[in-house]
Amino acid sequence: MTNVVPLKTPPALAVKDLTTGLKIRGIWHQAVRGVSFEVMPRETVALVGESGCGKSLTAMSIMGLLPAKVGKVLSGSVTVDGREVVGLPEREFEGLRGNLVSMIFQEPMTSLNPVLPVGFQIAETLRRHRGLDGAAARAEVLRLMNRVQIPASARRIDDYPHQFSGGMRQRVMIAMAVACRPKVLLADEPTTALDVTIQAQVLNLIAELQAEDGMAVLFITHNLGVVASIASRVVVMYGGDVVETAPVDDFFQRPSHPYSAALLKSVPRADRRPDSLEPIPGQVPTLFQMPDGCRFQSRCAHVMEVCTRRPPLLPGGGRPDHQMRCWLGRPEGGL
Ligand SMILES: Nc1ncnc2c1ncn2[C@@H]1O[C@H](COP(=O)(O)OP(=O)(O)OP(=O)(O)O)[C@@H](O)[C@H]1O
Ligand SMILES: [Mg+2]
Repeated sequence: MTNVVPLKTPPALAVKDLTTGLKIRGIWHQAVRGVSFEVMPRETVALVGESGCGKSLTAMSIMGLLPAKVGKVLSGSVTVDGREVVGLPEREFEGLRGNLVSMIFQEPMTSLNPVLPVGFQIAETLRRHRGLDGAAARAEVLRLMNRVQIPASARRIDDYPHQFSGGMRQRVMIAMAVACRPKVLLADEPTTALDVTIQAQVLNLIAELQAEDGMAVLFITHNLGVVASIASRVVVMYGGDVVETAPVDDFFQRPSHPYSAALLKSVPRADRRPDSLEPIPGQVPTLFQMPDGCRFQSRCAHVMEVCTRRPPLLPGGGRPDHQMRCWLGRPEGGL
C-alpha cells in the first residue's frame, strides 16, 4: 500500500513579494515593499500599522484598483484561490472583483451611489456576476438583506442610502460584498466609523458569514482590540514594509519589532493607568523622505549603525512562524 501524504490546503489569498509603486511628481516611489503573507480559507488575518504605512495600497493592489497612471504593481505576485491576478487585463479583473474577491470600505457613503435605491445596488452585483435579473434578482436581494440582518427588508429594499444609519449602510456594503460568495474578503477598516455597539454587531456578522461560506478575511484595522478578538494572525506594516508577522497570541505576548512593541504601548488598556501610555515619537516619514534600510530607524529607540541596511524578515519571536524585520538581537546587528 502506498502512503497517502495529506495535501496542504492551498491559501485562499497568497501575496508574495508585492511591491507597489506610486508616481509622485514624476518619480516612482515604493509605497509597498516586498510584502508577503497568506490567508487560508476561513482564516482572518489582521493587517495593522499607523496611518500611511501602505495597508490600503496593499488591498488596492490585490483588488486591481490602484489609482490609474499613478499607481501600479511593480513586482511580485498575488494569487486568489490559486489564480494569479497581477497583470490581469481589466476586463478579466472585472469578472473576479465582487465574485472571487470582494472588498468593504471604511465609509460606505462614499462607496454607495446616493441616487440609487440600495436594493438596486445590491442587485447590480448579482446581475453582473450571476446573470440574475427581475424577480429572481429581487428575491435574492431580499434574502441577502435578511442574511446581513437588515430589519424590514421588504419595506426598505427601495430606500436610498441616506435613509439608512451608518451601521445599516455598512450591512448593505457587506451584502454586496458577499452576494457572490467570494473566496476572499478584504475589509479595510469597515467598523472605524461606527460606534462600539454597532461595531461589535458588524464584526459578529462578518464572522458568521465567514463561518457559513468559508471566506478568507484580510481585516485592515488600527484597533488592536479588534485584532485580538477576531484574527488568528497579525501582519504589521510600517512605511510599506512588513516589519512583523505572528500568530495573534504570540504577537500580544511577545511583540518583537520595536515598532510593534511601541504600538502596543501606545494603546489604552483597562489594566493600565492612562498616564502610562507612551505615544510613538515623530511621524511616519513621507514617501519622499523614506530612509534607506530600516524605515523605522528615525523613530526607533534601539537604532544602530547597521539599520541603514534593510533588515531581512526572519524568525524573531521564538517561533518559526513569528517573523520580524529588525537587526536587534541578530549577530549581524552587532549585538
Ligand atoms: N492616490 C494617492 N496619491 C498619492 N499618494 C498616495 C495615494 N494613495 C496613497 N498614497 C500614499 O501612499 C502611502 C500609503 O498609503 P495607504 O493609503 O496605503 O496607507 P494606510 O496604511 O491605508 O493608511 P490609513 O490607516 O490612514 O488608511 C501614504 O504615504 C499615502 O500618502
Ligand atoms: Mg487606509
